[in-house]
Amino acid sequence: MTAPTVSSSDPTLLHELQTPAAIVDLDRLAYNVDRMAAYAAVHGLALRPHVKTHKSPRVAAEQMRSGASGVTCATVREAEVMSEVTDDIFLAYPAVGTAKLNRLMALPPSVRLIVAVDSADANDELAAAASAAGREVRVRVELDLGMHRVGVQGADAAVALAQEVAGTRGLVFDGVTFYPGHIRQPQAEQGEDLARLSASLGETLAALERAGLPARSVSGGSTPAAWRMHEIAGLTEVRPGTYVYNDRTTVAIGACAWDDCAFTILATVVSTSVPGQAVIDAGTKALAREPMPAAADQGFDPGYGALLDRPEVTVSRMSEEHGILDLSRTSWMPEVGDVVRVVPNHVCVSQHLFDEVYGARGRVVETRWAVAARGR
Ligand SMILES: Cc1ncc(COP(=O)(O)O)c(C=O)c1O
Repeated sequence: MTAPTVSSSDPTLLHELQTPAAIVDLDRLAYNVDRMAAYAAVHGLALRPHVKTHKSPRVAAEQMRSGASGVTCATVREAEVMSEVTDDIFLAYPAVGTAKLNRLMALPPSVRLIVAVDSADANDELAAAASAAGREVRVRVELDLGMHRVGVQGADAAVALAQEVAGTRGLVFDGVTFYPGHIRQPQAEQGEDLARLSASLGETLAALERAGLPARSVSGGSTPAAWRMHEIAGLTEVRPGTYVYNDRTTVAIGACAWDDCAFTILATVVSTSVPGQAVIDAGTKALAREPMPAAADQGFDPGYGALLDRPEVTVSRMSEEHGILDLSRTSWMPEVGDVVRVVPNHVCVSQHLFDEVYGARGRVVETRWAVAARGR
């Protein structure tokens, strides 16, 4: 899908857009995409970005152009939309339930589909759907390497499920997958957790080898640990998502600089009546009420977002359409009508609250695109 360009009747400068609006800085986006592609290439890792952050074919196409081998999805809707961009799709989520599975099997036949499973039940459901659709599906066994969300527990359980997959008609055992989402401390302090994870992954990989089922692909990755993934022995593929836009949390962890935050919410100051604060037209329905990690502790409540140009100004409270700016750490005196840009705490959830995104370079709006894979 090509992104529609802003037509001549549309506003072309940021401050002319109706707010709240989702803005992507196109230069920062390109930098983030290229930087991760270069990291993966240098370390000989395949890059399969998670599209849940942007949910946009426009951005996925940019990731594919810069060297991604395919994409990772969490929802069937994402997989459907991303099939416009790539034939290599990994659903890194347990595909359970007939309605979901039927939609998944209806993806274009050209799509080489990979699905994560962590139970014999999910494996059986997947096999039944694949066989009914006459489709071959590659399967990765999901491991719990510390996140404690999904994933089989230990090497023996991984081997048992891999054997089950390998013995199922229509399914092909492709390898293993894990999500190191529990590693969210500052980058420099991640070493111990990464070593522990690497050791238990190593045990599972060795057990699979001994069972005659070597893992062809070993997929893992997140943005907080993105730049240290090469320390995990045996890893073949990384799957960061947030890195494409980044956010306040990523900055706090040290996985990007403030200037790498490509996504902001453009908002207008609508009231300054109450002393010590200003109100913008971006509340929970634009920013989302997402917490900051402990790593962000600077001795004051971090709130729910901060201004791009004045990071000391935070969104301290919100209603659905009101965001309260805390002015206690700034000499800035906002006026009604001022336009600001807010960096959200967690970009994936914030961008999901918008139908479309404007792409800007500096103050000029160059393009806009639909967040096409929103919804179910
Ligand atoms: C299974 C899986 N893989 C990869 C990612 C990407 O992680 P991040 O958003 O930290 O880049 C996520 C994020 O939720 C995930 O759930």
